[in-house]
Amino acid sequence: MKKLHIETYGCQMNIADSEVVASILSFSYETTASLQEADLVLLNTCSVRENAELRIRRRLKELASLKKKNKKLVIGLLGCMAERIKEQLLAEEKTLDFIAGPDAYRTLPKLIEEAESGRVAFNVHLSEQETYDDIEPVRYDSNGVTAFISIMRGCNNFCSYCVVPYTRGRERSRNPKSIREETLRLFEKGVREVTLLGQNVNSYFWANHEMNTDFADLTESIAQISPLLRVRFATSHPKDISDKLLFVMAKNPNVCHYIHLPVQSGSNTMLKKMNRVYTREYYLKRIKKIKEILPNCAISTDIIAGFCGETALDHQETLSLMKEVGFEYAFMFKYSVREGTKAAADFIDDVPETVKLKRLEEIIALQQHLSLESNKKDVGKTFTVLVEGISKRSNQHFFGRTPQNKVCIFPKRNYKIGEYVTVIITRCTAGTLVSD
Ligand code: SAH
Ligand code: SF4
Ligand code: F3S
Repeated sequence: MKKLHIETYGCQMNIADSEVVASILSFSYETTASLQEADLVLLNTCSVRENAELRIRRRLKELASLKKKNKKLVIGLLGCMAERIKEQLLAEEKTLDFIAGPDAYRTLPKLIEEAESGRVAFNVHLSEQETYDDIEPVRYDSNGVTAFISIMRGCNNFCSYCVVPYTRGRERSRNPKSIREETLRLFEKGVREVTLLGQNVNSYFWANHEMNTDFADLTESIAQISPLLRVRFATSHPKDISDKLLFVMAKNPNVCHYIHLPVQSGSNTMLKKMNRVYTREYYLKRIKKIKEILPNCAISTDIIAGFCGETALDHQETLSLMKEVGFEYAFMFKYSVREGTKAAADFIDDVPETVKLKRLEEIIALQQHLSLESNKKDVGKTFTVLVEGISKRSNQHFFGRTPQNKVCIFPKRNYKIGEYVTVIITRCTAGTLVSD
């Protein structure tokens, strides 16, 4: 068997895709964590912000020296950057032997063969059907307890700043039967938590002559596999998160009360320009509904600072919305122009870099405060935590997550990985709950 080393960048979807790739190649390659012993190196890439791409460019430079030492080494680039830049990337990056876009992974064996015989090899064709639903992912980097399951691909939302609809193509949902079967097999192997993944999971929809399945139905059917299986999902778009789903979450205690609901901005002017198709008021109304149906639900978000034309007032509105919601956690970014998007074509990226940075820093500082406040409220409370592994900081402690997705550190005692334990929170930081 030859050796395959995969490096995955970007979102959780890419992690799931790398596992599909490992499966497609498993006839001739076994994965290795060691770059040195690899015959094939694959970088599964992200294009969402300029920095993500620059990081890959730097990595390719590092790999060039490895290739000088090992002339037989084959290097391929997968994912969103392959899709965005296409074959031009092969001309720009001489270290690369081939590239494959997110819907082209079934052709990898052929691409590798072509590359090995010295031909220029690429496939960046986007499909309207591909969901890889018959491929059993190889979970080569698994902790044995948690797993990602891709339930749909692509995005139809075309938020004006975002490259994803171009790199991932149109939305398509995977057959619920294959999702259920994959989950069942994982559960039987000891997995106790699955995260159902899609760019926009709430628009999951599958229909055949027998029945229709929407995201709430799918979630419920996965939750019914076993009360010992935790179910999470990401990402939800505020326009699509349904009351039906919230009721499914309320009814099934093993569907974790945690929702990642990216808001992007608190200003209606920005939301409109971003093509998010909801207003600040609508977003806040959805939050109210979530808290009404699921009082202990944690909410996290994504925020972009310094989008085109953002004024000091728009920025203040983002800060005030953050305070009003009291997010448990946030992923925060400064706006990065992506060629080919509507924002790049129609708007001017006119917020100076220093202002973007200052606003981002203010957003991060506020979130730090909000996360700490939220965690402080948990001190003294009891949570059921799924033991995921040994704490990075101390080998006498385990770590796991509460249903609200908060990381929790606690003494090992005689607990086992993969088991549910009850912990009382005794102290916290902004990032962690601790049980002494
Ligand atoms: N499908 C998800 C997330 C996709 S990308 C959603 O709809 O929210 C993850 C996050 O990256 C986005 O939520 C957004 O906050 C951020 N992002 C996307 N494009 C960006 C850009 N051009 N500049 C800065 N941040 C961006
Ligand atoms: Fe990008 Fe918007 Fe689609 Fe999310 S919903 S992937 S931000 S276009
Ligand atoms: Fe990045 Fe592609 Fe995911 S652009 S965020 S890897 S869908």
